Amino acid sequence: MRDELLDAAPVDEDFAAEGHDDGLIADHAGLRPSSLDDFVGQPELKRHLQIILGAARNRGEAADHLMFAGPPGLGKTTLAYIVASEMQTTIHTTSGPALERAGDLAAILTKLSPGDVLFIDEIHRLSKQIEEVLYPAMEDFELDIVLGKGPAARSIRLEVPPFTLVGATTRIGLITGPLRDRFGEVARLDFYEVDDLCTIVLRAAGILSVDIDEQGAYEIARRARGTPRIANRLLRRVRDVAETDYDGQVDREIAAAGLELFGVDALGLNKVDRAILSSLCDRFGGQPVGLSTLAISVSEPTETVEDVHEPFLIQQGLLMRTPRGRVPTPLAYAHMGLAPPSVVEPPQPELFDAE
Ligand SMILES: Nc1ncnc2c1ncn2[C@@H]1O[C@H](COP(=O)(O)OP(=O)(O)OP(=O)(O)O)[C@@H](O)[C@H]1O
Ligand SMILES: [Mg+2]
Repeated sequence: MRDELLDAAPVDEDFAAEGHDDGLIADHAGLRPSSLDDFVGQPELKRHLQIILGAARNRGEAADHLMFAGPPGLGKTTLAYIVASEMQTTIHTTSGPALERAGDLAAILTKLSPGDVLFIDEIHRLSKQIEEVLYPAMEDFELDIVLGKGPAARSIRLEVPPFTLVGATTRIGLITGPLRDRFGEVARLDFYEVDDLCTIVLRAAGILSVDIDEQGAYEIARRARGTPRIANRLLRRVRDVAETDYDGQVDREIAAAGLELFGVDALGLNKVDRAILSSLCDRFGGQPVGLSTLAISVSEPTETVEDVHEPFLIQQGLLMRTPRGRVPTPLAYAHMGLAPPSVVEPPQPELFDAE
């Protein structure tokens, strides 16, 4: 009976390695920290994990289920791997969209060894049916599976070894209450402080053998949109420029020149960020604009605008969400070198409005 279920096993072991954008390059270069001590920043989250993992390890139990939420590139996948390595156990990786049928999940869960970590990336994209199979697995380490259809259908119960589910999501708002409640800790990752990003750049430069001074690293960190993945990527681009146009050494001027060359401005905004601000300030004249209109106007998918660009623009005080749409702030006009319209309707700040 188990084998019947185990046949349907599209375990996407390599999902993380295939990675989003440059995850693979970063990983091959060994940039991903592999222990909590090497993980820079997020002090509160680190402390929580030290306690949760340390206590579970001492008790010889699987750690409680953990969810990491936050914008792309802040270290959710990295943390999932750190959880497994701190617990000295094996991580199995899959993702919300890869789990299509209950059998897929059953196949993965029944193959786990006690204490293993199951990492479900993009967990907000799990289907309702899979979520319901997951609830008893998370809570009681049991699976209820219905085999067949109609009168011939039979329900079987399978035991699952105690495991730790680690979920990652860029969309905490889409996680249903019951799923959320079953995690022992739901941790939100914040954008990183410049000092932490500077440490990350210097660490990566050490691993990649880039000759960079502290001011050069600081310049990259300052423009990295609070995001380690971007800091590492900018470091690689600056290294390219330093090796091509200079003698390979990176200082503040060379870092700044390299970043300008690749379209990263003084605040760290990229082309799309600036297109969004220019659209809001110029094309729509500061009037509230709906998300889909804004996305079309910059030729990007709505999810990209909402997940990747908006959080940083809001955090920088350049954009506000209001009940009637997105509006630029006076700071946005100043940054774009534009004059604000003479009569600006006072927007009503509201961070979490529905679109
Ligand atoms: N705290 C950190 N210290 C050092 N490097 C980090 C840290 N967090 C992330 N990184 C680096 O940033 C890269 C991106 O991190 P990661 O893949 O974990 O992000 P993510 O949150 O899973 O993003 P996504 O939502 O796109 O999957 C990693 O390869 C790693 O090198
Ligand atoms: Mg990830």
